[in-house]
Amino acid sequence: MQSRIMGAALTAALLISLLAGCGASGSNANGSAVLSDGVLTVGTNAEFPPFEYVGDNGEPDGFDIALINAIGEKLGVKVEVQNMEFDSLVSSIGSKADVAIAGMTVTEERKQSVDFSDPYFDAVQHVLVPAESDIATYEDLEGKAIGCQLGTTGDFIIEEIEGATDQQYNKAVDAVNDLINGRLDAVIVDSNPAGVFTANYPDKIRDLDGEDFGFETEQYAIAMPKGDKALADAINQAIKDLKADGTFDELVNKYM
Ligand code: ARG
Repeated sequence: MQSRIMGAALTAALLISLLAGCGASGSNANGSAVLSDGVLTVGTNAEFPPFEYVGDNGEPDGFDIALINAIGEKLGVKVEVQNMEFDSLVSSIGSKADVAIAGMTVTEERKQSVDFSDPYFDAVQHVLVPAESDIATYEDLEGKAIGCQLGTTGDFIIEEIEGATDQQYNKAVDAVNDLINGRLDAVIVDSNPAGVFTANYPDKIRDLDGEDFGFETEQYAIAMPKGDKALADAINQAIKDLKADGTFDELVNKYM
């Protein structure tokens, strides 16, 4: 009898603390199971400067990491970043990660598996070539050995180039190293990372704007589980607020 009463009291106490826990995870967190535990697990691939790279302390850093931390703060949740292969980010959502931020381009194919937040950045693929190369047009890429990071939009572009050999790497920087070593004719990678990689080897590689090759503008967004409207609303509102209060521009100035 007594233990039954104690049991009921315990259950009540547990319920109250659970409810309190929900309240503590932020007023924007209404209704999203992902946010209700107070932790947002974020997948990234820290091989994409200035958006994400491994910082001096061995932890992922960069624009995207700062952005998702600022979003977490707005939502009242703790952000935990998990570094993984770019190619496994989309499938990790709902298991290893709640969401992913990785300079990830919104594509129709990815939309089959995940929802995307409002876009937060525009980019275009660039073409890196050896300094002495005469590659200048899309046709010049035909039949060439072209490197990219596996599973990226650069990879998908190379697949379409007539006769090109698509050399896929786990990290874009490894493709850049092979370009410098003469193993590749070109590397296709997003505009901002292309600028960072070129700055490291200014007399060895040239950075060509993909617009001159007919490549389309891409938009980066946060990948989220399909159908979690409460989560999407909360994240989109946070992005809006960070743009309105100047935080977003501060991060652009800091990292770009
Ligand atoms: N924007 C490209 C894409 O979505 C490349 C992104 C690569 N990002 C990274 N963190 N490695 O496919």
